[in-house]
Parts: sequence; structure tokens; C-alpha cells
Amino acid sequence: MGSHLFDVDGRRFIDLNCNFTTLIHGHAFAPVVEALTNQLQRGSCFANPTESEIELAELLCGRIPEVDRGRFVNTGTEAVLFAIKAARAFTGRSKIAKFEGAYHGAYDWVEVSRSAKPDNWGDHMAPKSTAFYRGMPASVLDEVVVLRFNDVEGVHRLMSLHVHELAAVVLDPVPSRAGLVAPKPQFISAVQESARTNGILVVADEVLNLRQSFEGAFPRYGLVPDLLAMGKIIGGGLPIGAIGGRADIMKVFDASAGRPLLPQGGTFSANPLSMTAGLASMRHLDRADFAHLEILGDIVRKGIGRAITKRSAPLCVTGAASLFRIHPLAQAPNDYREIYPTPAGATLMNGLTRFFCGERHNPAA
Ligand SMILES: Cc1ncc(COP(=O)(O)O)c(C=O)c1O
Repeated sequence: MGSHLFDVDGRRFIDLNCNFTTLIHGHAFAPVVEALTNQLQRGSCFANPTESEIELAELLCGRIPEVDRGRFVNTGTEAVLFAIKAARAFTGRSKIAKFEGAYHGAYDWVEVSRSAKPDNWGDHMAPKSTAFYRGMPASVLDEVVVLRFNDVEGVHRLMSLHVHELAAVVLDPVPSRAGLVAPKPQFISAVQESARTNGILVVADEVLNLRQSFEGAFPRYGLVPDLLAMGKIIGGGLPIGAIGGRADIMKVFDASAGRPLLPQGGTFSANPLSMTAGLASMRHLDRADFAHLEILGDIVRKGIGRAITKRSAPLCVTGAASLFRIHPLAQAPNDYREIYPTPAGATLMNGLTRFFCGERHNPAA
């Protein structure tokens, strides 16, 4: 319950993961449980829109100035997928640019170079598109321009090289699996300028990082996206995703005058349970709550930093708002290649994980 997890042996853990950052209020948050119980008694899914869908859409449009219109799906993966498809339908181009090591869910195009390795990632000036799984179509690899995070020169050079082919650049401003690395202001400006100059849309993947502030993560770093992919916290613990953005781009989904440029829908899209849980959760998140989370995050990061200094441990901590990550590095990293684990680093991190997840509770194990 709340911030605690109990395992089958009755051991209690503080849950700092909360279903991969979804449960911003913790487990079994009373307003969500109550709203869901009421909704379940009134029906769990319908073919048509419900009031809670409209209310959640209005809440997101009201909070995030870049979201003029929104559409709901069931996962963050689908949100990223449809944001990319919308960018393609709007620009008439098919390629995308993404950042090496960044995780954006399971759509093939964003899985390119998700787990690039030193033996296949290529030159630092021209990262290679690497397959994420055996059998990934070569045509997918050809349609993704891989960039390096915080590489200002590379962003300008590679994005202008593919200028007439790129529909979108997909960016998570603080990519979690690529190290929760802080973006340099000049890097964000480079992405923004290159995109604007070349008619490429900026898709902000806020599936995880929307939790960084009332309006999301991108305004903290000076990014102005054309489209956003959202998920996790907006569903209050139930499956959800949402695409939002500029009205003229979101028009590609508009079916009011017949078949839209980009048809989108699904059996469980905008399902009332996710909408209800999301609404109850988001209504209990005001600016003061985000300010409080920021303070808690600072306390954790600083506390870990002090422990590292005290023991002269070969570690550092990155993160922002309520997020943190520990690296087996003496200096905060700048991109995915810098966080790529060495064998010694991997052993150190495994030891830390074992300590916090079990051995400390059961030293005999
Ligand atoms: C940045 C980012 N994008 C997309 C996704 C995919 O979301 P989902 O797991 O809901 O499909 C995730 C999930 O962790 C994510 O962290």
C-alpha cells in the first residue's frame, strides 16, 4: 500500500519504482480506488466516448499549452507510434531521427539503436542504425537517423543531411534508459533549430517524464514540441497512452469530414476505467504536489551524493524532479555511450541492487 511493497515472505520494501514510475501517488491511492469502484458498477467499456474521456482530455489540454488536441490509446508505445505516424501524415515524409540508447516503447522505428553496443554502434560522428532484435527489417534501419544525445554539432549536421526525408525527431529530454542524463541547453536549442529550419516536427516523448512538473518535462529544458506522447501517470495505474499537440497537426486524425489522413482507434482506446483512474489521479496533482516531489527528489539525490562522497565510491547520481539513477561512474555522464556498462561497472551495480533488494533483509541468503 502507498509507498510500500510486501513480498510473499512478508518482507517490506520501499517501492521507488512504482510500476516503472506510473503510480505517482503510490499503490492503492484511495481517490483512484473509489472512482474506479463507482465506474465499474456503471460499466467497464463502451464503443462510444464517455464523459471521463472528455474531462481527462480537457485537463491535459488545460495544463499543457502545447496540447491543443489529444487522443487516447492504451500504452505509451502506441502514443509514440501514433505521434510518429501523425508526423508522417502531416509532412508526407517517412524517416525519423532518434537518439542512441533512448527507450520509447516497442514500435520498430524507435527500437532502432535502443541497445547499440560498442562493437556495432559505429563512429561517434555518424552512429549506425542497429537492429534491436533478430529479423528487424533492414528497411526500418534505413529509415532511422540515429543521433547522439548532447551532440550539438552532430544534430545540426545529420538532421540537415536528411532534411527532405525526416518527418520527425523523437526526443525524451531526460531519457531514462539512456542514463537519465541531463540535456545541455545548447543541445535542446540545436534540436529545436534544426527541426524548425528543416520542416521536421519535434515529438517529445513525455511518457515517463511528464511527471517532472505540472506541465511536463519539456518546458523545464526549453523544448517546444509539435507533438507529445504521454502515458504512465495520466492513467492513475491503469493502462493508458495519449497523443497531443498542435491543432493543425492533430487534424490528421479528424474523421468529421470522412476518412482522415490518419485513421486511429482501437477496441479499448480511451476505455472508461483508465480515463476514470487517470482523472482521479491527475486531479490530485497540483503545482504544490509537484513542488513537493521536487523537494523529495532533491533530498534523495543529495543524500546519495553525500554517501558517495563520504565513502569515495566510484559512483555518481543523475536525475531531476522525482527521478534518480546511480551510475558506476565518477562523473555525471553526457550520453548513452558514456553510461554503457563496463564489466566492472555492471558487477558493482548488481551488488548494489542485490543489497537494496534482498541481501540486506536476509544476510544469510
Ligand atoms: C520514455 C518512454 N516512452 C515510451 C514508453 C512505453 O510505454 P508503455 O510501456 O506504456 O508502452 C516508456 C515505458 O517505460 C517510456 O519510458
